[in-house]
Amino acid sequence: MAAASPFSVVFVVVISILGSTGYAQLCPNFYSKSCPKVFSTVESVVESAVSKEPRMGASLVRLFCVYTYLGCDGSILLDDTSSFTGEKTAGPNNNSVTGFEVVDAIKAEVEKVCPGVVSCTDILAIAARDSVVKLRGPDWDVKLGRRDSKTASLSAANSGVIPPPTANLTQLINRFAARGLSAKDMVALSGSIICWKNMIIW
Ligand SMILES: *[C@@H]1O[C@H](CO)[C@@H](O)[C@H](O)[C@H]1NC(C)=O
Ligand SMILES: *[C@@H]1O[C@H](CO)[C@@H](O)[C@H](O)[C@H]1NC(C)=O
Repeated sequence: MAAASPFSVVFVVVISILGSTGYAQLCPNFYSKSCPKVFSTVESVVESAVSKEPRMGASLVRLFCVYTYLGCDGSILLDDTSSFTGEKTAGPNNNSVTGFEVVDAIKAEVEKVCPGVVSCTDILAIAARDSVVKLRGPDWDVKLGRRDSKTASLSAANSGVIPPPTANLTQLINRFAARGLSAKDMVALSGSIICWKNMIIW
């Protein structure tokens, strides 16, 4: 398969996922006054992480939307506390989702330039785009203004919505279909992540 085609479909899929989150007000210049350096700040951390470890690009794309229960809300980032259990250790995610340290590093840099302004889920949205660009995929304008989830649900994440790494083809197709994604979308997203993980694109 040509390397370029999955990227193009990922682009369309990511846009359609963004379109389905229900936030009508997302726009690329959401932080143009409150945090004009957000793009360059995120990009420089992604650049250094992906240069060191190209597979990190795939991890950041995965963190953004595909394998979270509710979608693009950053809920996957929430750590467990004594009174709260998030989704990090859900069956499909435990020991399988990676890249949290890169997100923490990006967040720390963004907080230095504009404290308390940019949501974590917007950081993930920019980092996912920058990862794709670094790995020679297409570029696009990232629409911003998402709010972070304040909650997550271990049981929901374990309820069968998120495809585990062990899912077979039928299960994968069904689980993506439940999110409104076609088999073609599923192949593009999973295939691209696998390609990036294995660096077939090089
Ligand atoms: C997650 O993985 C760790 C390390 O393998 C294991 O100790 C822990 O029990 C797992 N948690 C769940 C909820 O499966
Ligand atoms: C996929 O897994 C499900 C659940 O274990 C099983 O019922 C089904 O037969 C499997 N399908 C294929 C094609 O392996």
